Amino acid sequence: MNDCFYHLCSMIYGNITEVHLAYFRQVVSMAYVLTDEENLIRCASDHTEDLHHRPAVVLQPASADEVSSILRYCNEHRIPVTARGAGTGLSGGALPVAGGVVLDMKRFNRILHIDKRNFQVTTEPGVITQELQETLKAEGLFYPPDPASKGSCFIGGNVAENSGGPRAVKYGVVKDYVLNLEMVLASGEVIWTGANVLKNATGYNLTQLVVGSEGTLGIVTKIVLRLIPAVKHDLLLLVPFRSAVQACEAVNAVFLAGYTPSALEFMERDALEWSMKYVQSAGVSLPDDIQAHLLIEVDGNNMDELYRDAEAIAGIVQQYDIDEVLFADSHEQKQMLWTLRRKVGEAVKSNSIYKEEDTVVPRAELPELLTIIKALGNEYGFHSVCYGHAGDGNLHVNIVKAGMSDDDWHNKLPQGIRRLFTEVVRLGGTISGEHGIGLVQRPYMDIAFSEVQLQLMRQIKQVFDLNGILNPGKIF
Ligand code: LAC
Ligand code: ZN
Repeated sequence: MNDCFYHLCSMIYGNITEVHLAYFRQVVSMAYVLTDEENLIRCASDHTEDLHHRPAVVLQPASADEVSSILRYCNEHRIPVTARGAGTGLSGGALPVAGGVVLDMKRFNRILHIDKRNFQVTTEPGVITQELQETLKAEGLFYPPDPASKGSCFIGGNVAENSGGPRAVKYGVVKDYVLNLEMVLASGEVIWTGANVLKNATGYNLTQLVVGSEGTLGIVTKIVLRLIPAVKHDLLLLVPFRSAVQACEAVNAVFLAGYTPSALEFMERDALEWSMKYVQSAGVSLPDDIQAHLLIEVDGNNMDELYRDAEAIAGIVQQYDIDEVLFADSHEQKQMLWTLRRKVGEAVKSNSIYKEEDTVVPRAELPELLTIIKALGNEYGFHSVCYGHAGDGNLHVNIVKAGMSDDDWHNKLPQGIRRLFTEVVRLGGTISGEHGIGLVQRPYMDIAFSEVQLQLMRQIKQVFDLNGILNPGKIF
């Protein structure tokens, strides 16, 4: 954010005064109006790089009525409001760049209704995704989206960012499960965006407009999700490749042969190696000539079929220059491999200052994308560690600062990222697959959209939030 942005904010938005704090205390009670250092610092950051933007106050409401009173008041007094889930976001979406109020949604932590008859659940947004999944699993129900941070992220944050995760390749992302949302508008009015039905051709689809809108259109206070029956079995394969580009080529070969794995993840050598160091696990052997791995999961209810599919997939990848395929058959081994995969992001973060891009291209273009990333790295002098949801064409590109000078990092690298995104769009892709635009991808929106498209989005934003109090400084 540049000085101009802050200057503009100081002209548009009101400061938080004692009078405002007194009002907030009336609404949520004293205990949930937080101005202590610890909470302000906690809400200044999320999992995105090393960014810090402090709010003036953190509010912890527990009902739509309380959120409504807060928004109505903030709208009247032009106070910025930024919603926050568990703070695991990767694009800075939850950071209060214009100060003001952070709405900490942690007290919205109840699963309200499991409707087994209709395969639906109504939940509050502050429920941890994995806890929701486990509760549903105990009832024979399955909510598939599984972001890497599922053990700590909130379902509300997943809705705000339209998160994905490894299973998206077979089961889809968050938007594919959201049927209906209760949402508080900037004006304080409370609405439902749709209906609790599997088909809906009734007017504009407000539900899907709000999914992925990163807290810029309203504050979601209830979420209705569609569910599917729990799946009984899965098998996991780890395939070591001597060429990272060939690993990307093999991804498409699996689909072209007619298989849809329940996960098809790519990890460059560094990604797996750093993750093993980070979780202090010997994990898997990593011969010197191995450049990348594919982690391939198949799932279903018939074990014989799964073995057949896994063997067929092993046969397909044998056509490439690979080392021995590891079949993970025990629960422990599967857990270990998934932990290594899920911890890659944290491992990179612990290793170096970094920037993470969330590129996505049509799946068949993945080998070209990887080749381009490495070529740009040579041209702009950056080292990248790539990994992610190859089955979706969704590659996370971690650019590590390592030996780069501060000047190159701040001035030359953004040009390299711009080139990267331009190439991504040329390949038919876009600049975020699942992490959202938030704060950090904002400068690149003009690559993904024309001015006409951006103007349409700005107008939609205005309809919902005329005074621009909801999560200012995000998306565009
Ligand atoms: C992952 C996160 C970074 O896939 O999206 O690990
Ligand atoms: Zn991911």
